[in-house]
Amino acid sequence: MQIYETTDYNEMSRKAANIMASQIVLKPDSVLGLATGSTPEGLYQQLIDKYENGDLDFSKVQTVNLDEYVGLDMDNHQSYHYYMVNKLFRHINVDPKNCHFLNGMEKDSQKECSRFERLIQGFGSIDLQLLGVGENGHIGFNEPNTHFSKGTHLVALTQNTIEVNSRFFKDKEEVPHYAYTMGIKNLMDAKRILFVVNGKRKAKILRKIITGPITPEVPASILQLHKNVTVVADKEALSLL
Ligand code: GLP
Repeated sequence: MQIYETTDYNEMSRKAANIMASQIVLKPDSVLGLATGSTPEGLYQQLIDKYENGDLDFSKVQTVNLDEYVGLDMDNHQSYHYYMVNKLFRHINVDPKNCHFLNGMEKDSQKECSRFERLIQGFGSIDLQLLGVGENGHIGFNEPNTHFSKGTHLVALTQNTIEVNSRFFKDKEEVPHYAYTMGIKNLMDAKRILFVVNGKRKAKILRKIITGPITPEVPASILQLHKNVTVVADKEALSLL
């Protein structure tokens, strides 16, 4: 793991955006694995700024999103599809046909997960996978005690994740209890992983992820075994290391 410490969230976002931008400059038809949550918002804004300055061209980029809530359609403001379109895609020149999502409205989970697996396999591999982390160590929606060998699958969200993510919903009752997610296997198959973490509330889990045992209880601990992980984290997140 290569670890970059930044003074704050803004510097984390700038540094991570520069890494992603260099990936796109060096390989304009990169396949990017993208993540949601509050952590990457600043990074996405930086990418928009670079596009507006004429420094980045997304026209050949392909994107695959990590995960999606089951039961939310793409126009639902809490869906990850809506997030990606509004926080990034509609502000840049990515071709909407090149932006791929899990469909939270597909009730047949086996059909949806196989479709997504075929899609990822069709790309060969993901060039750069962006990841944030949940407070319980989940990546994508791979909750604690998920098998590391899993591909795309349906997940029952833990009570902790439902509670933490309820801050984005009007009411805790509105948080879906299920999600589709790429599996750890899909993430480990990516050529490079860009892992962004910020804030005090992630300090405890980040210490476990980087220095603790590799265990399904802390899903992100598997990243210790990936050969090309870049961690960009702020001082607060790294404060317990
Ligand atoms: C969600 C997403 C994860 C994300 C996590 C952390 O649960 N499925 O991909 O990493 O939230 O979100 P935040 O960055 O808001 O802390």
